[in-house]
Amino acid sequence: MDQQQPEVVIKVVNSGPYQVKGPVKLVDHEGREYEVPQRRSVLLCRCGQSQDKPFCDGAHTRTGFTAEASAERPAT
Ligand code: FES
Repeated sequence: MDQQQPEVVIKVVNSGPYQVKGPVKLVDHEGREYEVPQRRSVLLCRCGQSQDKPFCDGAHTRTGFTAEASAERPAT
């Protein structure tokens, strides 16, 4: 990994959002930017029910969203 580029970590929360740890820049379809500073994180909706997309607003708990994901790639 390049020493100039900090590692970005995206964690898949079981039955919940994606937790993205900064520093990272989130850009929406209209080019609006949302900065996530170093050592901070943002939760991105994975269930599709948030009223504040792309951010998680906790709706996944109210709607009973369940999903467990593994980062293992399927054998080819
Ligand atoms: S994952 Fe939390 S509201 Fe969708």
